Amino acid sequence: MSLIAVLKKNNRNKLFTTPSHGGNFCIYHKFYQWYKSDISETDTHNPQEALDKAEKRAAEIYGTKYTKFLTNGSTSGIITAVIASKAKKVLVWDNSHPCHKNAIKLAGAEKVEYSVEIDNKTGLYKAISANQAENLIKGCNADSIIITSPTYEGYAADVKLISEICHKNNVKLIVDEAHGALYPFSDELPESAVKYADYTVQSLHKTAGGINPTALLHSNDNNPSEALSLINTTSPAYPMLATIEANVNFLNSSQGKKYIKKLIDNIKALNLPKYNDDITKIVLMHPELSGYELSSVLFDKYKIEDERTNEKSTMLLCGIGTDKKMFERLKKALKGIYK
Ligand SMILES: Cc1ncc(COP(=O)(O)O)c(C=O)c1O
Repeated sequence: MSLIAVLKKNNRNKLFTTPSHGGNFCIYHKFYQWYKSDISETDTHNPQEALDKAEKRAAEIYGTKYTKFLTNGSTSGIITAVIASKAKKVLVWDNSHPCHKNAIKLAGAEKVEYSVEIDNKTGLYKAISANQAENLIKGCNADSIIITSPTYEGYAADVKLISEICHKNNVKLIVDEAHGALYPFSDELPESAVKYADYTVQSLHKTAGGINPTALLHSNDNNPSEALSLINTTSPAYPMLATIEANVNFLNSSQGKKYIKKLIDNIKALNLPKYNDDITKIVLMHPELSGYELSSVLFDKYKIEDERTNEKSTMLLCGIGTDKKMFERLKKALKGIYK
């Protein structure tokens, strides 16, 4: 039985257990629709077994050795990956998301920082190149490297080649693919690291329609369960875990793939110059406006909020929920801004 089906079963016993709302308490009632399925582990349906099965099915979908459902974001995935990999000396980007360095600290490992080039045109960080990764690996005796691909603004690394280089040199590769959860489901997006890297994390909540802060940890190396148990609560958020199962099933369905294709087609129809590798992260520049000015015009005049801005460019993040109405608003704004 799927985890979703387990939660939908509502022939509940009278529970003298956690969760203490018992499905019948004033605070719970206010949020009933959201937490209808906040079940107890003792309520006989054995959700743990259903969760194990759901994660195994997800691993089959992604073609990985293990896929774990995360209810504390990619942040917890990176920490788990560094602990599970048994890394002792880790190459880490000096401007990485804070969880990378925190993970190394928590694992009691040593860090060696590296920098990444900035694209002068857009003012944005590029992804690490395979050449740079090779030089870094050969230049120090680190046993693992964490890379961010794609970057926040959609620059992607050659994850396949970097994984080959890492494995030739006995170095484990951990990929922060927090912003690339749609990649395994479209040939028009950069290649996902899930099949190549030792560990890959993806935030479902960032681009794939998941609720905050659902994410996935994929491993082709050690089973990450034990490492995950070091940082996870022993009281799983089953409703949230079930949304992850549903999210993965949706992305893998023909309907999900159609959604992604439609999203990409809508962006292509805007006919914008492309500065990065991931079309769903729209980088806008203007010959007469700074990135900050462009961001203000979008916000003040067109009620469009960007994801992130720098001096030279501003970036609009699109995901599975970027619908027709949003594109219509954007088209109107682009017409006004670039007339
Ligand atoms: C590159 C990158 N990695 C990891 C994270 C952490 O992801 P989460 O919010 O899913 O914990 C973020 C969040 O913004 C991020 O931008």
